[in-house]
Amino acid sequence: MKKIDKLNLKSKKVLLRVDFNVPIENGKISDDYRIKVEIPTIKKLIKKKAKIILISHLGRPGGEFKEEFSLKPVREILEKHLKKRILGPFKIEEARGEIEKMKEGDVLLLENIRFYRGEIEGDENFAKDLANLGDLFINDAFSVCHRDQASITKITKYLPSFAGPNLILEVKSLSKILKKPKRPLIVIIGGRKVEDKAKVVEKFSEIADFVLVGNLVANEIKEGRVKVKKIEKVIFPIENKEMLDIDSRTIEIFKEKIRMAKTVFWAGPLGKIEDEKYQRGTLEIAKEIGKLKRKLFSVVGGGDTIEFLNKFSLLKKFDFVSIGGGAMLEFLAGEKMPGLEALGYYGD
Ligand code: 3PG
Ligand code: MG
Repeated sequence: MKKIDKLNLKSKKVLLRVDFNVPIENGKISDDYRIKVEIPTIKKLIKKKAKIILISHLGRPGGEFKEEFSLKPVREILEKHLKKRILGPFKIEEARGEIEKMKEGDVLLLENIRFYRGEIEGDENFAKDLANLGDLFINDAFSVCHRDQASITKITKYLPSFAGPNLILEVKSLSKILKKPKRPLIVIIGGRKVEDKAKVVEKFSEIADFVLVGNLVANEIKEGRVKVKKIEKVIFPIENKEMLDIDSRTIEIFKEKIRMAKTVFWAGPLGKIEDEKYQRGTLEIAKEIGKLKRKLFSVVGGGDTIEFLNKFSLLKKFDFVSIGGGAMLEFLAGEKMPGLEALGYYGD
């Protein structure tokens, strides 16, 4: 795969797929980690005098325009970090004319790509329309590479396509980790998007020494929606009244496992952390991993988990931070990822 450093991008319209799926509370971005990591890539393209068109999703608006899912707050943060005016966010219909007016080094933000059904359904015609906006495509959104969606897997058929620097870094770092994790390997799977976690729980119950699961994931297994081959490796939270956090006994059991680990992979909070009352489990587990920093190799990922750890200044206690939650787990479980397949990129 050709690196973008080697490309002549002067005056080229570059479609850059990023993941600005950041947490928003009352119209304000509460954690801009995913935007910050993308700034060096954008700067690199500005330096190369490209015309940069940013494509991102935010949440799951389900294929229709919904103001609360607009990328407007993202534009503000981008302007702050790049110290530069950002055009947009424009819907595709408006963007066509605006792109024609762009000058070298300009940055334009497309409106939330999941406002379009074609994106979610992975529609070929939609991908073609999108591709028509630019001269080449760069995917720098590793965290969405587990989705078969138009701006990830279909657009690559219609434009010369490249892996971006952050995507390359994620794939390279995670590949190294995947090859020979030091054992015992403990995998912690929490979070809300349980439908994604199903297949990784199954895979990790074979690969890992122990899989510690949050309440929602535990429920999926108990109710038979997730089949696990080696159930003895899965450590469930002890049932408590509300099940909105793991309780003190579970925290102790989880810590005990973590203390014997040489490698920990973690994605997804262990409680309903947006409510302060239910942050304890996630916080205690994070602190325990932090304490053991020198003894174990830790990998953490996912939007909610990163936001939480950032808030408590715990992110630096981890050896590798992936912007992907579901994507990271799928990659580490050895699953094929449609977004990487589309680029023909596997880390070489
Ligand atoms: C994520 O937050 O993991 C990515 O942005 C993908 O979002 P999705 O789970 O809504 O596809
Ligand atoms: Mg370490």
